[in-house]
Amino acid sequence: MKDLRTIILAAGKGTRMNSDIPKVLHTVCGRPIIQYVLDITKGLGSLKTYVILGHKGAAVKTALDGMFIGVEQARLLGTADAVKCAESHLRNYRGDVLILSGDTPLLKLATVKRLVQKHKRSDAACTFLTAVVHNPKGYGRVIRNESGAAVAIREDKDASGYERDIAEINVGVYCCRSKELFGALKAVKINAKKKEFYLTDIIEYFSQQGRRIETVETEDPSEGLGVNTREDLATAESVVRRDILRDFMIQGVTIIDPGTTYIDAGAKIGSDTVIYPFTFIEGDVRIGNHCRIGPFARLRLGTRIEDRVEIGNFTEVSRTRVGTKSFMKHFSFLGDTSVGAQVNIGAGVVTANFDGRQKNKTKIGDGAFIGSDAVLIAPVKIGKKAVVGAGSVVTKGKTVPDGSVAVGVPAKIISGGRRP
Ligand code: UD1
Ligand code: MG
Repeated sequence: MKDLRTIILAAGKGTRMNSDIPKVLHTVCGRPIIQYVLDITKGLGSLKTYVILGHKGAAVKTALDGMFIGVEQARLLGTADAVKCAESHLRNYRGDVLILSGDTPLLKLATVKRLVQKHKRSDAACTFLTAVVHNPKGYGRVIRNESGAAVAIREDKDASGYERDIAEINVGVYCCRSKELFGALKAVKINAKKKEFYLTDIIEYFSQQGRRIETVETEDPSEGLGVNTREDLATAESVVRRDILRDFMIQGVTIIDPGTTYIDAGAKIGSDTVIYPFTFIEGDVRIGNHCRIGPFARLRLGTRIEDRVEIGNFTEVSRTRVGTKSFMKHFSFLGDTSVGAQVNIGAGVVTANFDGRQKNKTKIGDGAFIGSDAVLIAPVKIGKKAVVGAGSVVTKGKTVPDGSVAVGVPAKIISGGRRP
């Protein structure tokens, strides 16, 4: 979108989270809250995105390196002051500025697009996003005059009498003409109760100046959720999780029980795969077609599961590739492992991938058979069609050659191939 700059407010302390971690880095379905907001600016094609950083700003910058231009807010004097910090970057800019909060992960790109488009078509000084919610507590309320025009936003702490019952809230998304925005900010006075400069006060200012203010309402009220507490975080998580699962089901994945299935944003699953209850799948996991996963399975970062694979109950797979038609059906752990095609991983098999200092790799060739309760102390290599007997321990650095059989503790080759 041409002629658009975005400012994302993310400097606040997030006091109500009671956390050492900056609020916008708390995760929803495996991704930092602010990343959902950054996705919107990316989707809009906003030419430049400025993120206002303050409390633990360095951590935010490091976590999302290169995704935005960081602007420091030296003292946390409120949302109006935060926007002002970007002024020097926009001095020669005459177009529209979109302001977003870093704590609204449920916001949809289509809604923000609708808001920006409405603003660009009108001659309003400011267009802001509202939502009509069941519980408006904690949010700024939208005050309208007799003809229905928005004339002010009243913060929860300052709302009195009937204002508290207003169900239409300010979501914290504003589109303003740059020059007018910074002009209005100069007029904002400190709020006596909170000792902060409120960005929301620009609405009353514009209204008093006789300038037009437009609003856009979200179609789905949950979009307006601002994460201020751990309870809000859990609400956001459940909404995003439900959306992720719905998308997978539309794509042809069977989810037996969406209530007990946890899949992070970014995972990919092929069609006709069935996910059984109590399964956890982290982002950056790829699962092929016609697989069966779970119940009680945990697939972790960097895992690649090819087609027609079965990963059964009480299993954990981490940074591991599992080839086509391989089975790992009962209480097992595979870490840093490459498993070929048509491999059987018996009940209780464990790759001991961590030696106390570093993670080591295991390689299991096509058609291999790893007996129940075998332990593979990485690094080890199990050849194609090799067999490791039940209860065996293949010790560090060993190779079980193609087609051979290894048994015992420590495992010894009893047929085929060379000694490990
Ligand atoms: C704000 C709005 C409120 C709206 C709600 C929507 C104001 C005064 N109030 O309230 O009308 O209903 O969002 O979620 O704007 N921040 C800074 N610097 C500061 C203070 C805050 O960058 O000095 C950032 C925070 O990191 C956060 C955002 O601004 O990302 C909003 O601040 P927050 O404290 O969450 O405001 P709310 O009380 O939620
Ligand atoms: Mg907030």
